[in-house]
Amino acid sequence: MAVSRGEWSSKTGFILAAAGSAIGLGNIWRFPYVVGENGGGAFVLMYIVFVIAIGLPYMLAELALGRSVQSNPVGSIHAIRPGSAWKSAGYLGVLTGVGILSFYGVIAGWTVGYIYKMMIGEAGGFGEFISDPWLVSFLFALFLCITALIVHGGISNGIERWSKILMPVFFILLIGLIIYTITLDGAAKGLTFYLKPDFSKITGRTALAALGQAFFSLSLGMGLMITYGSYVSKKENLISSAVYIAFFDTLIAIMAGLIIFPALFAMGKSPAAGPTLVFVVFPELFASMPGGFVVGIFFFILLSVAALTSTISLLEVPVAFMVDQHKVNRKSIVWIVAFVTFIIGLPSALSQGASDLFSNFGWLPERLSSPDFLSHMSFIFGDFSLGFGALLLSIFIGWIWGADKAAAELTLGAEKFTLTKKAWMIMIRFLIPLIIFVILLNLFGIFG
Ligand code: PHE
Repeated sequence: MAVSRGEWSSKTGFILAAAGSAIGLGNIWRFPYVVGENGGGAFVLMYIVFVIAIGLPYMLAELALGRSVQSNPVGSIHAIRPGSAWKSAGYLGVLTGVGILSFYGVIAGWTVGYIYKMMIGEAGGFGEFISDPWLVSFLFALFLCITALIVHGGISNGIERWSKILMPVFFILLIGLIIYTITLDGAAKGLTFYLKPDFSKITGRTALAALGQAFFSLSLGMGLMITYGSYVSKKENLISSAVYIAFFDTLIAIMAGLIIFPALFAMGKSPAAGPTLVFVVFPELFASMPGGFVVGIFFFILLSVAALTSTISLLEVPVAFMVDQHKVNRKSIVWIVAFVTFIIGLPSALSQGASDLFSNFGWLPERLSSPDFLSHMSFIFGDFSLGFGALLLSIFIGWIWGADKAAAELTLGAEKFTLTKKAWMIMIRFLIPLIIFVILLNLFGIFG
């Protein structure tokens, strides 16, 4: 019996779901601390250039392949080159989905914990909070269960409906917070750090960080956009959809920085605090502002929701793979994948002080990742796999499937694309793989 795959019910539905995947902890939690670690304004500028020059054209390639073949990453590659080794690029995507979910879900669990902490008026104590083994494991499990429940509900009813209501609310809350923080004493210094580029801060390592962050934030490199593209109808304009997704994703990240950096400098804290930045700065900000109690609760509820629309998409990739390739029932496989992810994620959950072994894991060189297990997973799956996956997929789409066929798919529903088609084909075949390749080589210290 054929299992029905489902389709988005409208163009806005698709854009919101894809933007919901893109917008998440990557924007609010990861972007500000990566900016802080990499010197501020110059990094922000480089990030924006990468989003426009690499992220956006690459996203079009994934969407085109997905809509053309109507399948998950493995199935899509199989449909074009049956039996070839290229399928491993698809498997890598499925694996990366599970890998990212396994640490992302841990942090998403913290955001839920912070809803409660805000309710009882407790702004500090982040260190004790993340090192409590039972609490973090429970919150992680809870978050995976909520994710699984929604993915269980299917495409348009589950993923689409939720994204439509909650993303706009989050946007409005962020605007309110920007207005508040930029009027704080000392905010100007934060704005300078954040917005005024100091080009001496750009190195090979910052270039990789900017590219990695662009792929992570736009949900690229693991076939997520292949999967989401496979649910889009042929009538829709993929180009304008991708522009909207990239625009809103970048806008939200920039907005998060506009809140964090003024607040940070107003509090006299260092911007290079790493992954804990957001969980320390935001609660303190709420504690000091009038009515901050209510704002804090709302903020962490909405941040949890933003994380949820991303975890949903992360779970959807392995689930779509199992449904398409192995014809299993969506409803039961969702729970199995969630359970496996929980097991893989436990070491990450315990790596922030709860377990000595996982907190000082240190398998990767210091230069690449902090010693804790979660940072290792974040580097392996969140940076390296996404970049490597994007390299393979751009070569596959540009050369094996054919940039001309991808361009023809993109032209459906977007007749005007004919004008820029040539430029896009050159980008996907030459420029994008080349730049990703150079940045990955640099990662291994090839250029010193
Ligand atoms: N883009 C999401 C975020 O920024 C994370 C993510 C990465 C989701 C890859 C899906 C795929 O939070």
